[in-house]
Amino acid sequence: MKSIVLKTAIPGPKSVALMARRRAAVARGPFHGTPVFVDHAHGALITDVDGNVLIDLAAGIGVVNAGHTPEALVDAIAAQAGRLIHGSFNVTPYEGYVALCEKLNGLAPGKFAKKSFLANSGAEAVENSIKIARAHTGRPSVIAFEHAFHGRTYMAMTLTAKEKPYKTGFAPFNGNVLRAPYPYPYQGVSAEAAFAAFTDLAAKGTAKDIAAVIIEPVLGEGGFIPAPKEFLAKLSAFCTINGIVLIADEIQSGFGRTGTSFASEQLDFAPDLILSAKGLGGGMPISAVTGRAEIMDAPIEGGIGGTFGGNPVAVASALAVIELMSDPAFLPRASALGRSVLQTLSAWKEKYPVIGDVRGLGPMLALELVKDPASKDPYADSAKQLVKHCYERGVVLMTAGSYGNCVRFLFPLVITDEQLAEAFEVVEDGLKSLKP
Ligand SMILES: Cc1ncc(COP(=O)(O)O)c(C=O)c1O
Repeated sequence: MKSIVLKTAIPGPKSVALMARRRAAVARGPFHGTPVFVDHAHGALITDVDGNVLIDLAAGIGVVNAGHTPEALVDAIAAQAGRLIHGSFNVTPYEGYVALCEKLNGLAPGKFAKKSFLANSGAEAVENSIKIARAHTGRPSVIAFEHAFHGRTYMAMTLTAKEKPYKTGFAPFNGNVLRAPYPYPYQGVSAEAAFAAFTDLAAKGTAKDIAAVIIEPVLGEGGFIPAPKEFLAKLSAFCTINGIVLIADEIQSGFGRTGTSFASEQLDFAPDLILSAKGLGGGMPISAVTGRAEIMDAPIEGGIGGTFGGNPVAVASALAVIELMSDPAFLPRASALGRSVLQTLSAWKEKYPVIGDVRGLGPMLALELVKDPASKDPYADSAKQLVKHCYERGVVLMTAGSYGNCVRFLFPLVITDEQLAEAFEVVEDGLKSLKP
């Protein structure tokens, strides 16, 4: 049985009418990967306002890893909403906040005492991790990487590498942020070269001024590039010797996305602080900073917090996500999906020269599209064409990469084999139809 049901052209008339209202009423800034307004969604299927059913390979940017509206989450959210929607942890604390921190401390990699802090969004987790690192070290500077995306608030945006659209028109940015190359072997930046450049930069900034190094163990927006284990090991050793707080931004790669709770586990990486958001709440806005207890305790009482951080309903949803992912079948299924998708994508690479690289970790996989395999010139138009081809035929897909030339697969990890095969038929047709 097919899952995709197309009752109208995509976008359908109701989506088109809503888009006109959106243009009139909503600020220009927020972008849309697809011009399709959703009505409801379940598992890996989205039903739009025109009654079309689409297969979701984007999961709301890697958020609904446990699927859209899983019963256990809906029940947990409803039950919590009936008891307490908001208390503010800063006014009248509640058990759920503590219970979620206990769970996160247990899940995060590293055999050391840990504590956690909850906020609302990925960017807020990034902001707080830098505050915590500065409070701990008493130092000003932070090293971030090329191709990094850390969010849209001022510090997170400053740490983000890509200028357009994330930084256009928003200068001046925060000071004391240095940028090092991220290992990108396909485009000629080896782990050795990246680490040599990192140490040069650290020496220039004088390592004793550096409070933190922040890295995505698998680049998200930057194009799904996993950092090599040896690079992360050298970075860890450097940070330990120099008293620098090493922060892993696992906002996109965490919570099952790579087949383990955190990608760091597969990369033998135990950062001082690890950041979660997206998949953690299963769709409810919640984020966390988890890490070494003595670093987490650096800010004075009242130094970090917020009205909504660790909202009880979002916490209940996150606890339900953790429960779902602790099912012994969940993560192995995600890893199996990763292996099978990697096989498909690698076979495509042999057939379609537009695919320069296939990469990622577990089921967090992407294609890098190039104008020709020898020059490796980024081919952003083809990524855009492919996304359009797919949504017009009932598959939701997203681009990525500093040059916009990657196509990333972020399907809900509960997608069935049949749904995946059906969606990939559409994607492959799209690859065949790409025009130079
Ligand atoms: C790695 C990474 N860090 C931070 C963020 C920012 O998260 P949010 O959009 O929740 O602020 C994102 C969002 O895409 C991300 O992928």
